[in-house]
Amino acid sequence: MFEQTDRLGEVVVQFPNAGRVFQRFGLDYCCRGNRNIEEAARQEGVDPMEVVADLNAAYGLTKNEKQQVHNWNMESLQALTDYVVNTHHAYLHQTLTPLGELVTKILQVHGVHHGETLEQVHHLYNLFKMDMEEHLIKEEEVEFPAIVRYEEYPDQGLLARVSKGVRELEVEHREVGDLLREIRRVTHDYKLPEDACATFSYTYKKLQELEEDTFRHVHLENNVLFPRLEATVAQFTAEVEDVHP
Ligand SMILES: [Fe+2]
Ligand SMILES: [Fe+2]
Repeated sequence: MFEQTDRLGEVVVQFPNAGRVFQRFGLDYCCRGNRNIEEAARQEGVDPMEVVADLNAAYGLTKNEKQQVHNWNMESLQALTDYVVNTHHAYLHQTLTPLGELVTKILQVHGVHHGETLEQVHHLYNLFKMDMEEHLIKEEEVEFPAIVRYEEYPDQGLLARVSKGVRELEVEHREVGDLLREIRRVTHDYKLPEDACATFSYTYKKLQELEEDTFRHVHLENNVLFPRLEATVAQFTAEVEDVHP
């Protein structure tokens, strides 16, 4: 059972379906997962007791269904980064361009009546796409290989280099997360106008899927992968202090 003092990121590590509950209440568990439930709920203007009640109800259902929760802390960093690349990055590589075409299409067709919203969606989406494509290249070509190399050959110099890279990735996560939150805000939580056609509603549905997948993706990096590296930094520091008190 979860309590108001539990931190969002840690709750989702233990119980991944919690991500959906937090998302429903507008609580950011991936980039601001260090906050506890009470703090986050108060900041977002929702009732923390209601969040905990929904969370524990979802947890009870999952336990009854005997769903297996994957414990990533038992896996190698290589397995974790491979999983992120093969699922979440693969999804983005397949999705970003066709979804961008849909976002342009609905602006062309519905811009006359809903230009104010759809121009902002188009602008924000394209910023997100550009930032995310650069971020994926950085992770796949530079930062993840460095993390895997560090795991194979632990070395303090490499660890310093890797943790600097991680801090940059965290900043980029906040930036892409903010763009998705802004798209949700300008669309009034993806509320469709009455004259929306099938393409319009399909595009909003796909944008919401993109948001959900990105939050789960960033959560695995921010709340599982990076804390394991930080724990190694702390361990190195303690060892150095032991040798040179
Ligand atoms: Fe990633
Ligand atoms: Fe990332």
